[in-house]
Amino acid sequence: MTFLELAAERYSVRKFSDRPVEEEKLNKILEAVRLAPTAVNKQPQRVYVLRSAEAMETARTLSPCLYGAGTVLLFCYDKENVWSHPTDHACAGEVDTAIACTHAMMEAWELGIGSCWVRFFEAEKVKAALKLPENLEPVALLPIGYAAEDAAPGPQHAASKTLDELVTIL
Ligand SMILES: Cc1cc2nc3c(=O)[nH]c(=O)nc-3n(C[C@H](O)[C@H](O)[C@H](O)COP(=O)(O)O)c2cc1C
Repeated sequence: MTFLELAAERYSVRKFSDRPVEEEKLNKILEAVRLAPTAVNKQPQRVYVLRSAEAMETARTLSPCLYGAGTVLLFCYDKENVWSHPTDHACAGEVDTAIACTHAMMEAWELGIGSCWVRFFEAEKVKAALKLPENLEPVALLPIGYAAEDAAPGPQHAASKTLDELVTIL
């Protein structure tokens, strides 16, 4: 599969089966996180793997968008180890972490594992529930797993804008 084929085929899975994600596949997904590019190579991305019964019970209190997944990755960045522009102070943490999360999403799909990027959570509640260190800022939850047999792309999946709407060539 080419990258463009993978990008077109992948969709947000919102119904997962009970089949657990094998550790070998999980490790490959995490390796994709490790290899993501980051501003000035600061590598501020940090990932929590929530998959024990206790962790998943907590995760389910944090967002209604876990869709029955048995494993959830929480993507954060380290606010004390992240590049910011020296004069306008724009922080690259969310962008760095978004790239890492996208790597995970794409690698998962290549391995036959679905995911759904989730931002429907309150960061302060996530920090408190998981007792995150002060320096970590949550960016995304990524429930991952094998899609249920009747899982299907949502209507938004096919609603990509045209290049004319997205691109300006100067
Ligand atoms: C930053 C971001 C936040 C998102 N938050 C949620 C969410 O909280 N719940 C959800 O079901 N989907 C969420 N999504 C998934 C989008 O709705 C989805 O990617 C988009 O509708 C396109 O559909 P597709 O991924 O199936 O192609 C999010 C996606 C992104 C990139």
